Amino acid sequence: MSILVTGGAGYIGSHTCLELLNAGYEIVVIDNLSNSKFETLKRISELAKKDFKFYNGDLLNQKTIEEVFSKNNIDAVIHFAGLKSVNESIEAPLHYYHNNISGTLSLCQMMKKYNVKKMIFSSSASVYGMPKNVPITENSPLVPINPYGRTKLMIEEILRDLYISDHSWGITLLRYFNPIGAHESGRIGEDPNDIPNNLMPYINQVAIGKREKVNVFGKDYDTHDGTGVRDYIHVVDLAKGHLRALEMVIRTTGIDAFNLGTGIGYSVLDLIKSYEKATSKKIPYTLTHRRPGDIDKCYADTRKAKEKLGWKAIKSLEDMCRDAWRWQKNNPNGYNK
Ligand code: NAD
Ligand code: UFG
Repeated sequence: MSILVTGGAGYIGSHTCLELLNAGYEIVVIDNLSNSKFETLKRISELAKKDFKFYNGDLLNQKTIEEVFSKNNIDAVIHFAGLKSVNESIEAPLHYYHNNISGTLSLCQMMKKYNVKKMIFSSSASVYGMPKNVPITENSPLVPINPYGRTKLMIEEILRDLYISDHSWGITLLRYFNPIGAHESGRIGEDPNDIPNNLMPYINQVAIGKREKVNVFGKDYDTHDGTGVRDYIHVVDLAKGHLRALEMVIRTTGIDAFNLGTGIGYSVLDLIKSYEKATSKKIPYTLTHRRPGDIDKCYADTRKAKEKLGWKAIKSLEDMCRDAWRWQKNNPNGYNK
């Protein structure tokens, strides 16, 4: 079975490509490398001991996508390609709406033309905005609070309309919580450009000596220690969730959304402590002001994924920290040698 992976050179895509190859799927990857490196693809092949086809192309380019579908017998698509920075999306909303939404539209048009009607879409917990209650179920109100989150919700709605128009589609919307960690080989991992916005890559850079200390955003949240609580999930667990979703979507039609998280909320200080324990590295930090747009707590109700996909995250916070650090230590400059 041949799976087209859009954005397969990226952080979550690369880990999923590896799991797919290890499970015996053929893959075809398309990525414009706008936020990733070719080196990642070489490492996926090396780890899986298998080759695969790669198109260095943009989803916005209809000609390239047509080439992908006309030259390969694609059975299903896992659609990761998109821009993902909340801050950037506030500064450049048109760029975000264009890339994420138009890219998805052109992909879907080509899928329809080539009669490929199975898709897994990378949505995000950001579709829930500021949840009133935790844990967050899939039925919680969908009120994203930034352009990035709105691109995800709009795409979910587009895909729902597509299904309504043609019931032979099978579409799974996966709402990720906070993916962190890396493959246990230490060969693939998260490689942010510039100063990391997200907590784990920032901690990694403090641990390797690139940054002095972590700025902990907010100390007076309504949480057990006053710092923000999130549902961190190991990227390999997350990647495996895609394989369960794929198995389901291949044999069914319909559209459904699933939270992919662990269901456990940890604070910023919990994560720092766990990292120190797992790696024996000291992580200096200072408590500072809240970051605009942040919420106090966000963690998933994971029952639906367990019941319907037969998937559950199994790796602990310490596993996530240990694997994140192994990746950082072995690749101090990410994929740049
Ligand atoms: P990433 O940036 O590492 O990967 C996305 C990949 O898509 C990159 O390799 C990029 O080059 C590629 N891409 C972007 N626009 C493209 C286009 N128009 N054509 C072709 N390729 C394009 O991000 P990630 O962390 O791996 O996230 C994957 C998906 O999951 C994204 O859609 C993201 O919004 C979503 N998501 C991520 C998180 C997270 O915290 N990492 C959380 C929730 C949802
Ligand atoms: N934080 C710090 N210091 C930092 C960075 C983050 O204290 O330097 C705190 C934040 O305030 C928050 C927690 O660490 O309490 C996690 O922050 P991240 O930036 O790592 O992650 P977010 O929960 O803010 O957002 C992430 C992705 C979004 C996605 C969301 C839900 O960046 O794209 O998870 O999936 F929408």
